[in-house]
Amino acid sequence: MTDSRIATARLGATGPEAGVQGLGCMGMSFAYGPSDANESRATLERALELGVTLYDTADAYGAGENEKFLSPFFRAHRDEVVIATKFALAIPPDDPTRRVIRNDAPYIRQAVEASLKRLDVDAIDLYYMHRRDVNVPIEETVGVMAELVREGKVKHLGLSEVTGGELRAAQAVHPIAAVQSEWSLFSRDIEANVVPAARDLGVALVPYSPLGRGFLTGSFAKAEDLTADDFRRQQPRYTGENAAANAALLEPIRTVAEAHGSTPGQIALAWVQQQAAVHDLPVIPIPGTRKPTRVEENAGATRIVLGEEDMKLLEPIAAQVAGDRYADMRFASAGRE
Ligand SMILES: NC(=O)c1ccc[n+]([C@@H]2O[C@H](COP(=O)([O-])OP(=O)(O)OC[C@H]3O[C@@H](n4cnc5c(N)ncnc54)[C@H](OP(=O)(O)O)[C@@H]3O)[C@@H](O)[C@H]2O)c1
Repeated sequence: MTDSRIATARLGATGPEAGVQGLGCMGMSFAYGPSDANESRATLERALELGVTLYDTADAYGAGENEKFLSPFFRAHRDEVVIATKFALAIPPDDPTRRVIRNDAPYIRQAVEASLKRLDVDAIDLYYMHRRDVNVPIEETVGVMAELVREGKVKHLGLSEVTGGELRAAQAVHPIAAVQSEWSLFSRDIEANVVPAARDLGVALVPYSPLGRGFLTGSFAKAEDLTADDFRRQQPRYTGENAAANAALLEPIRTVAEAHGSTPGQIALAWVQQQAAVHDLPVIPIPGTRKPTRVEENAGATRIVLGEEDMKLLEPIAAQVAGDRYADMRFASAGRE
């Protein structure tokens, strides 16, 4: 692995320039078992050295803890980083273990102030609606987000887990820089409607969970390999018979990895990255890791070019995956297409 910086891409027609691969920071405070804070901090610094400049968080990750954890790093490197955070998964006062989706104006206004305070910055570079509340017209939500841009609190807008139609309606109100949705060798449903809409509108795609939440690297094979509090234990793809069936799907990824002298995880990331050329739009995946050596490995994937034969071997995988992306599919846009 060379130490040279990774290539850059623009986050959509109107968005900022960033390294062609970003860093998902969620696991540093939330969802994937215990983290070592020093190791996470070293990961952030190593990522930046490698040219990884888009850092992804959300107010919901650890109920604000992730934004607070990242703040010193962002402040130390304010001009070099693109800070992306999100609103919409609210904690109801009567039950801190639950999340309700809120897209209404009073909630957005309260959420942005809280994120700015925790991050301790003057403006958020990319502010996403994390999930869609179907009771609020998207035009209304994006209208409020556009006000935040005019007020200087937010520089660019993004949407997560929206349909192609919702993206088009949103773009009619204010330019959208990026759509963040799950996209990987295991999750390709956005290719039907969301990706074509993004291409037409000049919106970038930011694939989340590009490593299939780690499953595509082979770092775990089933729910029982994970700690008791790990969110992936509840995900249908990684439990019981589904996990065993899905583990068998990794074989062609290993074959391609061997041919390239790389790791399966790098092939998974190279495949997502290559969707930029396949679909003719900017694609900036945000693999999540808390380890400097893994961020090096992942950034190295930006230099792998898969050939036609490789793509053919990888093509049939997604259609064979057993189990939904979420236990509660209200969290996915696919049901609304
Ligand atoms: N918009 C949304 O609704 C949404 C949903 C989910 C995630 N996200 C965002 O997307 C980011 C990435 O998604 P994700 O974290 O769910 O999944 P992911 O990037 O597909 O996978 C992350 C997992 O893979 C492991 N990993 C990473 N690099 C590895 C390597 N080279 N070798 C072996 N294992 C490796 C990580 O472990 P270690 O951390 O221990 O290295 C972690 O457990 C998140 O951090 C978050 O910012 C957004």
